[in-house]
Amino acid sequence: MTPQEEILQLRKELEQHNYNYYVLNRPTISDYDFDQMMRRLEDLELFYPQYADPNSPTQRVGSDLNQSFRTVPHKYPMLSLANTYSEGEVRDFYERVRSGLEGEDFEICAEMKYDGLSISLTYVDGVLTQAVTRGDGVRGDDVTGNVRMIKSIPLRLKEGSGYPHEFEIRGEILMPWKSFEALNEQRAKAGEELFANPRNAASGTLKSQKSRVVAERGLDAYLYYLLGDEIPTDGGHYENLQLAAQWGFKISQGMRKCHTIEEVLEFIAYWDVERKNLPVATDGIVLKVNSLRQQRHLGYTAKSPRWAIAYKFKAERACTRLNEVTYQVGRTGTVTPVANMEPVQLAGTVVRRASLHNADIIAQLDLHIGDMVYVEKGGEIIPKVVGVDTSQRTEGMEPVRFATCCPECGTPLIRVEGEAAHYCPNDSTCPPQIKGRIEHFISRKAMNIDSLGPETVDDYWQRGLIHNVADLYTLTVAQICGNNRNRVKSAQKVVDSIEASKQVPFERVVFALGIRFVGETTAKLLARAFKSMDALQAATLEELLAVDGVGQVIAESIIRYFHDERCLEILARLREVGLQMALSEDVLAGQTDKLQGQQVVISGVFQHHSRDEYKAMIEQHGGKNVGSISKKTTFVLAGENMGPAKLEKAQSLGVRIVNEDEFLQMLH
Ligand code: IVH
Repeated sequence: MTPQEEILQLRKELEQHNYNYYVLNRPTISDYDFDQMMRRLEDLELFYPQYADPNSPTQRVGSDLNQSFRTVPHKYPMLSLANTYSEGEVRDFYERVRSGLEGEDFEICAEMKYDGLSISLTYVDGVLTQAVTRGDGVRGDDVTGNVRMIKSIPLRLKEGSGYPHEFEIRGEILMPWKSFEALNEQRAKAGEELFANPRNAASGTLKSQKSRVVAERGLDAYLYYLLGDEIPTDGGHYENLQLAAQWGFKISQGMRKCHTIEEVLEFIAYWDVERKNLPVATDGIVLKVNSLRQQRHLGYTAKSPRWAIAYKFKAERACTRLNEVTYQVGRTGTVTPVANMEPVQLAGTVVRRASLHNADIIAQLDLHIGDMVYVEKGGEIIPKVVGVDTSQRTEGMEPVRFATCCPECGTPLIRVEGEAAHYCPNDSTCPPQIKGRIEHFISRKAMNIDSLGPETVDDYWQRGLIHNVADLYTLTVAQICGNNRNRVKSAQKVVDSIEASKQVPFERVVFALGIRFVGETTAKLLARAFKSMDALQAATLEELLAVDGVGQVIAESIIRYFHDERCLEILARLREVGLQMALSEDVLAGQTDKLQGQQVVISGVFQHHSRDEYKAMIEQHGGKNVGSISKKTTFVLAGENMGPAKLEKAQSLGVRIVNEDEFLQMLH
C-alpha cells in the first residue's frame, strides 16, 4: 500500500468510527484502538504534507488561534415557523392545510423541535464546504471552522450513498444535557459565570474564537431540512431525511408520518412526556406537510411557510403564595432577589425558592407580598416567577420594594447606569464577598488548599481568624484548635496544606487573586506574557491589550485591581509570606528567544525526546511549530524516516534540514 492509499483508508475508517460513535451512538472499536489509528494518520499526514486535507478526521481537535467570523448571505433565506401553544390552533392548521390542498390527501410529518441554534450546512461533492448561522435570516456568520469540530456533523458523506452534487441541509446545534452539566460544574469550580441553559451554552461555544473550545465541549447536531435544486422529489420530506441519514447525517430521533389529526395529537402527547428522556433539549413539535409538491403548492407567508407549524410545549407551571423576598449577595457583590414561597410540587421537585433576577423584573410583575404567583421551570434550571394571579390579591398587601441596603453588611446598594443588577460596593467587609473570595482562592484550580472548604472558611471567619486571603498564611494550629484539643491533628493538616500552597506556580497565583474577569486561561496568558507580578502590576493598558486573548474589559479590570489600595496591601502580604510571584526559575531558565520568529516543521521519528517535547522546546525558545513546509519555513527538524516527499519539498524550496543533535546543539 502506498502512503497515500494508507492515508485515505485510515481517514475512511476513522470517519466510519466517528459516525458509529457520534451519530449512531454504537461504537465498534475501543477508544484505545481509535486513538492508535488516529495517531498513525497524524504521523502519516505530517510526513506527507502533500496529502493534507482540512476534512481529515485529524483536523477535528481544534486550535487556539483566534478567528473572526465573516458574515455571508444565505442562498435561501432562513425562515422561522409560526408558533402555537394550543391544540385548537394545531387543529386550525390541519384544516387550513386541508382546504389549501383542495381536498387532496396529505401526510403530516411530525418531529421534535430542537431547542438550540439553527445552522445551514452546504455540501458540494459530498464535502462540507460551509456552515452558516441563522443570523438575521438573510445573512449569517460563517462558522465553518468551528462546525468542523462537531463530531456528529460529517465532513465527508458516505461514498456511493447517492447524495446530490450540491445541496444545503439545515438543522440545530445543541449541547447535550450531560455536556452542559459537566461544563457548568467545571465553571462553578473555576468561579466562572454559569450558562443559564444548554442553548446559551451552545451559542457561546459556537461563537468561540478558538475552535479547540468547540472541540472540547461536546456539541451535537440534528438535521431536519434539505434544500437545493437537486434534492430528490419523488418521496417527501420524511423520505428525504431518511436518505440524509444514509448519507451520514444525524436526524430527528422521533419522526412519524401522520394521516389524521388524532395521530398528530397523539404524537404531541407522547413526546410531551417522553422528551424528558432525550439527551438534548426540545421545546416542541414541528409539523410539516410531507409532500414537497404540496409544500410548494401551499407556499409561504411573508415570514414563514404555510406548510409547517411549531407546537410549543408549555413549560410546567405551578401556583403558590409568595411569602417573602430575600436577597443573595455573590462573590463579586451582585445582589439577586429571591422569592420565598409556600412549597409546591413542580416538574418532579418541590420548589420553595425562585430567582427574581433584578429590580426591573419585580417592577414588571408588580409583585406584592402574599401574592399568588405562577412559577415555571422552563429551559432555565432555576425556577422563575412568571406571573401573578391578581384576582387573588387582597387589600393591604404591600408591594415589594427592592432592598436599598445590603442584607449582609448594611451598606447602601448601588446600581450602575445601564445595568440591571444592584451591587453591594463594600468588597472589603461584606461577608459573602470576603468568604467568596477566600473560597475562590483556596479552590482546586487556584491555590488548591484542599484541607479547607466553604464550611471551614465560614467557621474561621465567624471566629474572627481570617478576614482575607493573606490571613490564611498566619493561621496557627493553636488558633485553629481554639479550646478544642481534639482538633490538633486536622489543624496541623490545614496549616501544612496552606504552607504547601506557597509552591503553587505563579500563573495559578494570578488566577487565585480573583481579579474580575481573569479566569484560569487569562491568568496563564498574563503569567506567560509578563513573567512576574511586578511586571504585570506595572503593565499599561496598551501592554495588557497587546496580549492575545486580553480585551478591553479584562485589561481595565486588571488596572483597577492594581490601583486598589486594599488589594495591593493583601498582595504585599502574600509576597512577604513567600507565594510565587514570578514564573519559576525552571521555566524561566528554559525560556529564550533563540528561535524567535522562526517556523519549524517537525518530521520523522526521534531518539532523545518525543515529538511533543520537541514542540514544547520550540515554543519555549520563542519559535513556532508549523505543520507543513512552505517558503516561510525556517528549518525542518528531521528525525529518522523523514518522508521522501517532505525531503524533496524542503530541498526544492531550499529549506534547511536540521537533525536531532544539531537542534539540541542550537539550543545550548
Ligand atoms: S424546520 C422553513 N424543523 O425552530 C422551515 N425547524 O421557528 C425550517 N427548529 O429556525 C425550519 N427543530 O431553528 C424545523 N425539526 C425542526 C426544528 C426546527 C427546531 C427551529 C429552527 C427554526 C425554528 C422555527
